[in-house]
Amino acid sequence: MSEEKLPQPVSAGNAHHGHAHSSTRRRRFTKRQMLLEVLKGVLIAILLLFPSSTISYASDLSNGVWHWPWTPKHVKTNVILMISDGYGPASVAFTRHFAQALNGDNDYDSPFQLPLDTILVGTHRSRSSSSLITDSAAGATAFSCAKKSYNGAIGVTPDGKPCGTVFEAAKRKGLLTGVVVTSRLTDATPAAFISHAASRAEEALIASQLVGGPKNPLGERTLDLAIGGGGCAFLPNTTASSCRQDDEDTVQLAAQLGWDVRVGFPTNTSFSPEGADVFSTKHGREPTLPFMALLSAGNTPYEIDRLNAPQPLPLKPLKHYASKALELLSESEQNTDGFVLMIEGSQIDLCAHNNDPACHAREAIAYHDTIHLVKQWVRKHTSRTERTILISTSDHETGGVTLGRQLTPDYPNYAYYPQRLLNAKHSTPILTAVLIDFVRTEVAKAHGGAHASEKRVRDFIRHSILGASGLGLESDTQGGPPTDDEVEAVFAVVKEEILSRRHEELDEVAAAADLIRLVGSTAHADALHALGPVPGVNLDGIRRAISDVAARRAEIGFSTSGHTGIDINVYAHGDPTTVHKLAGNQDNTNIGTIIQEFLGLDLDAVTRDLNK
Ligand SMILES: *[C@@H]1O[C@H](CO)[C@@H](O)[C@H](O)[C@H]1NC(C)=O
Ligand SMILES: *[C@@H]1O[C@H](CO)[C@@H](O)[C@H](O)[C@H]1NC(C)=O
Ligand SMILES: [Zn+2]
Repeated sequence: MSEEKLPQPVSAGNAHHGHAHSSTRRRRFTKRQMLLEVLKGVLIAILLLFPSSTISYASDLSNGVWHWPWTPKHVKTNVILMISDGYGPASVAFTRHFAQALNGDNDYDSPFQLPLDTILVGTHRSRSSSSLITDSAAGATAFSCAKKSYNGAIGVTPDGKPCGTVFEAAKRKGLLTGVVVTSRLTDATPAAFISHAASRAEEALIASQLVGGPKNPLGERTLDLAIGGGGCAFLPNTTASSCRQDDEDTVQLAAQLGWDVRVGFPTNTSFSPEGADVFSTKHGREPTLPFMALLSAGNTPYEIDRLNAPQPLPLKPLKHYASKALELLSESEQNTDGFVLMIEGSQIDLCAHNNDPACHAREAIAYHDTIHLVKQWVRKHTSRTERTILISTSDHETGGVTLGRQLTPDYPNYAYYPQRLLNAKHSTPILTAVLIDFVRTEVAKAHGGAHASEKRVRDFIRHSILGASGLGLESDTQGGPPTDDEVEAVFAVVKEEILSRRHEELDEVAAAADLIRLVGSTAHADALHALGPVPGVNLDGIRRAISDVAARRAEIGFSTSGHTGIDINVYAHGDPTTVHKLAGNQDNTNIGTIIQEFLGLDLDAVTRDLNK
């Protein structure tokens, strides 16, 4: 992930300087020199004719790519909005330290830069209309409608009325639109761009609106490309992997509406899974727009679990899907005017909700890898006939992440240790599932008199959960193997929540554990997310205890399992005028306003149609 240098834009200042310098040495004039002088004169005249601020922005903002000062009649405009859900400034520094440790880079004066580091332009205020702490729904609505709304709002204003989104307005202007996410496509962040609902919980409605069917409030299709998880909301309630209350087959509906639909998981409908490659040629046909890939029933697996799955999962990192999306949108023959693409690193947020630092870092690195790829794409797609802007930001911070944690009443040490997390193999929800499965089997074996062996459970926690195949605590590099105190901290919760219960009380746990048995299979990843609350059993407590061992090792603090109200970094690369407009501290709605201005969109016209 080394960072490349941006091509330096030609600056007006340098051109003037060059001219003055050459004129002092004017002596013998050959015809060729004369011609050169004339050409220089013409160049200066052109530069003086365009005294517009864009030229000086180009020269003083390293984030920009060269902006052509003359504009041909037809210019394609592309917006790539990247959202790192739940990624605050402390998490960015943590990612940098983690990535440096991965590279074995221990220099205190290391020049290492993350792909986002070189394109930082400002910060935004993340609050919603209803709280100083926003949720993802209000956060995304601020970007999509350029309006503040209440927590839970999906593309609606505080009065409950739908507001026109940049996607809808761009589509009406003839641009293509797309979303790529690692969460469910119906989750709050993507939903606020592609649908309108009073509550983020209405995921079935959001799915129906997404495909552009009769339930879409504009009665038209807003999206041309959708890649992500959350297939369960598209399947009728007659199939096992459905999470709809009704029997609408939204996958079938999408196909009828002309979508090229690919599913990456078993649906038990006429749609069979594509296997490893959702972009393969199907029935002799290359993927075409409108294109929809449903990668999994729920959220896709965490990157840390995908990387370390015992058998490779048929899923790729975010950058693979982002790259394909850029290719499909930009190379489509339907692309006449450009496109708007939203790419979300969705699960950076979920790992932070779980206070799971290694999971958080791995998701963030997958996001930075994608930023690196998109930055290169932006440079390739900036020319006389194509203007492109990449904006990257988060909706809010999650977890209240701090890099430094006081573990004893003594004066704190000034240190924290991200390198102790490098060997972690799985997310803490997966480790929780594995642990519950083991304990439940032990309890079942002991049923009929004998007690489950506490020693065996402790050993399992030490070796499989905290040790090599779990958090990876093994050697001095990680601060030594798991300590008795650490094992006991996890065991105490397991004992209280599982071992101390009667066998019958554990039936619910058994049902949950059955779901998550198949570690390493595709079904597994979804099943883990289906591991919902078990009445009377605090499974969440086990996950917290495991996360806390990792966080304490690294001396990282978390102030909450929810969001916080701090300002969020804004990054931009590409069109210099737009980059400049994003500088400084601004309201989060400014992101939506600036996209609207860059593309020349009329959101109010869409709002009027939505409320007819
Ligand atoms: C698939 O359908 C069959 C019968 O129609 C049913 O028995 C089975 O449970 C279903 N499986 C899934 C994964 O939906
Ligand atoms: C499935 O949805 C239909 C309505 O669309 C409803 O009548 C039926 O009860 C639902 N079945 C289940 C099992 O939820
Ligand atoms: Zn969020």
